[in-house]
Amino acid sequence: MNTEQTGTDSPTVSQLQATLVRSLAEAGIESPLPEARALLTHVLRLDWTGLVLAAGRRLTPAETEQLETLARRRLAREPLQHLLGEVEWGGMRLLVSPAALIPRPETETLLLLALANLEGLNLEGLERPQVLDIGTGTGALALGIRAARPDVDVTASDLSEEALALARRNAEQTGLEVRLVHSDLLENVTGRFHLIVSNPPYLPEADRQEAQPEVNHDPDLALYSGPGGLDLARRLVVQVPPHLKAGGTLLLELDPRNVGVLAAEMTATGWTVQVSSDLSGRERFLRAQRET
Ligand SMILES: C[S@@+](CC[C@H](N)C(=O)[O-])C[C@H]1O[C@@H](n2cnc3c(N)ncnc32)[C@H](O)[C@@H]1O
Repeated sequence: MNTEQTGTDSPTVSQLQATLVRSLAEAGIESPLPEARALLTHVLRLDWTGLVLAAGRRLTPAETEQLETLARRRLAREPLQHLLGEVEWGGMRLLVSPAALIPRPETETLLLLALANLEGLNLEGLERPQVLDIGTGTGALALGIRAARPDVDVTASDLSEEALALARRNAEQTGLEVRLVHSDLLENVTGRFHLIVSNPPYLPEADRQEAQPEVNHDPDLALYSGPGGLDLARRLVVQVPPHLKAGGTLLLELDPRNVGVLAAEMTATGWTVQVSSDLSGRERFLRAQRET
């Protein structure tokens, strides 16, 4: 996108928006209008209403330069969220970076399932509910649970130190308290939990070949897990039982192609399993309990 003129000849905000939409659409980006608006509101530090009211305004040279840089990066298919540095997820504003997976909308359903599960817990006020989020990334699930339920003690773990550092920044900027643990699955995690949630890496390795360019900006460690996508989830399931309190629940997000496979394997090894769907109707979530 070239917006090189300056002064009174330079394009107005609405002309720039139209140019941006065209460039983004030509690059194959699915939602060019919302993305163009998001880039403009970011550069001009306006909300969407402010952007509409600024339609006839011309950008300063510094704003023009920033917009051109961001547009170039987006046209090279860097994720919009990395350019903005944050995402709206689960009612929170979370910092994002290449250090951790950008939290996905479908995982908001896992958050709702976790909150519904906690709603159903009856501890008669005798103990605080204990929750563990394995592979926390930005901290999305752990922080979402803590935001909705300040009465719950939340522990969040990850193998990636970089992801944990980002989760810590998100905890600080949201003012939410979670215990962060560096751990390969449950290796360094102590204690027993009423609820263990995880959105582990679950894509089959072969997906790497067809991944959208944006997905290549997420860490590999957050995405792929062996030929069928289940290597890490299988290891996790084996490690969970000693960490679940009696009657405790394991909630997992998995790929619709492999959730049924793991559900069958877990049923065969003594778990009681229910599978549920995401908002597009694809089976994606697994809820499991067992006699410990
Ligand atoms: C799909 S991402 C989920 C991130 C976050 N929970 C979310 O839903 O947005 C998977 C996370 O698992 C972490 N991970 C991968 N292997 C792990 C392991 N062996 N032990 C703990 N965490 C692991 C990755 O670093 C990544 O943060």
